[in-house]
Amino acid sequence: MFVANTEDWWRNAVIYQVYIRSFADHDGDGIGDVAGIRARLPYLERLGVDAIWVNPWYPSPMEDAGYDVADYRGVDPVFGTLAEADGLIADAHARGLRVILDIVPNHTSSAHPWFQAALAAAPHSADRDRYLFRDGRGPGGDRPPNNWISAFGGPAWTRVTDGQWYLHLFAPGQPDLNWANPAVRAEFESILRFWFDRGVDGFRIDVANRVAKDPALPDLTAGTDEAGHPYTDRDQVHDIYRGWRRVADEYQPPRVFTAEAWMDNQDRLALYLRPDELHTAFNFDFLTLPWKAADIRASVDGTRSALAAVGAPATWVLSNHDVVRHLSRFGRPQETLGHGPRYVYLNALADLPLDIDLGTRRSRAAALLLLALPGGAYVYQGEELGLWEVEDLPDEARQDPTWIQSGHRVWGRDGCRVPLPWSGDAPPFGFGPAGSYPWLPQPPAWKQLTAERQEHEPESMLSLYREAIRLRRELRGESLRWLGSPPGVLAFERGGGFGCAVNVEAAEPWPLPDGATVLLASGPLTGAKLPEDTAAWFSLPG
Ligand code: NOJ
Repeated sequence: MFVANTEDWWRNAVIYQVYIRSFADHDGDGIGDVAGIRARLPYLERLGVDAIWVNPWYPSPMEDAGYDVADYRGVDPVFGTLAEADGLIADAHARGLRVILDIVPNHTSSAHPWFQAALAAAPHSADRDRYLFRDGRGPGGDRPPNNWISAFGGPAWTRVTDGQWYLHLFAPGQPDLNWANPAVRAEFESILRFWFDRGVDGFRIDVANRVAKDPALPDLTAGTDEAGHPYTDRDQVHDIYRGWRRVADEYQPPRVFTAEAWMDNQDRLALYLRPDELHTAFNFDFLTLPWKAADIRASVDGTRSALAAVGAPATWVLSNHDVVRHLSRFGRPQETLGHGPRYVYLNALADLPLDIDLGTRRSRAAALLLLALPGGAYVYQGEELGLWEVEDLPDEARQDPTWIQSGHRVWGRDGCRVPLPWSGDAPPFGFGPAGSYPWLPQPPAWKQLTAERQEHEPESMLSLYREAIRLRRELRGESLRWLGSPPGVLAFERGGGFGCAVNVEAAEPWPLPDGATVLLASGPLTGAKLPEDTAAWFSLPG
């Protein structure tokens, strides 16, 4: 099957996130690679997803797992070669799967030739102007130019030998680019073309809302909100993405973009999705929900009304490579958990008791919710196997820069990045060849969760995802109408008589609507009633 030339495929696509380092290791060095993805394409085709999004595979010193890019037009040798990447794109297309790459425009690696040239050049030179170099404050310029803090901890500035400082909103090995410089804009449009010409179907844009900075680089003050923020969501970003959209629209079929932009204000986020800008954005409001019916409903409605203003479809996301796996969030008492970004990190959760069975039941129900809502859905590798966060990694195994930059106080994101269990009864569980050692240790208990073991079990998480993805192909349109239900239960209809109900937190099983025929359920029903932590899809008489 060849990729169909439907221009709006992205409006309701299921996109599978391939965290390449942890997906499949073909050569046995402990790190996943392009050849590993190619070998597992039949699995993805059978899962039924429309596209894969592959995290950065470019040459990189790997200070932030590849989000520190040294060459945007290549593939790091640890992952493979450009020729193999071309082969993957061709193989994926031949199976009807589209390929989305990850572009990192906010910063390069400090090993990038541009940054090396900047270091070799004099202060205030053209080479330095591609980045954000400034003189320091105080006597001798000994203090950083402002008070900004790196997202991974510590100051966002590092001093170079001639006394100037450069900005890095993330690790010191990730210097921020100066997007006010036309050479930066031209270079990224050229990078987009490089990959689009090779057949890549689109890009996920890393930190899409931070590329534009206030050129005065003022201090952050207590009163700084998103409206006047010096580096988040500045109005200048929109012109950059209008330029990118023009590039994407030169291609047939047009290429697509998804914004990674953590924002509080959904109406501001919608501005990125105006018809001449980006296509979709990750729904982090939804990803940061507790398992609470009222919160879920408010998030669904808030998302849909904000996006309706610009005609963009929603996306629904439960997990990714930056947050605690949702099974381990939902498997904890939800009462103390609020809604928002801080509750998706391990440090905020670790003290709450974890019930894996409960987390699994809720994750099954959440999967049916995710895949029933109108719009696109993202599946983070391993959620379809019911993987949990690995919380007991030995400290010496941890590699996330957060762990290092926080002085070993913040565990960081390694626990959601542990390599997948494919087969067998012991590590490496088919992730790599027998005798190889995955870059992070896998829990022995994952032998219950291998893809091989779940393959033919009708009740497995894998079977549930496959069946749901298959059934959702029948869904049409983007309408959603809430059905009457008691507090704690969510029920909606999607046109064509398709319904979805989730008993999130009502102790009393909920009777499905009269005449409903169950199509799929996340767990056993009590007669025709939906017990707590269970979801069902049903058809309603016409
Ligand atoms: C967001 C990415 O998802 C994350 O993994 C990375 O550390 C930061 N951006 C910096 O590039």
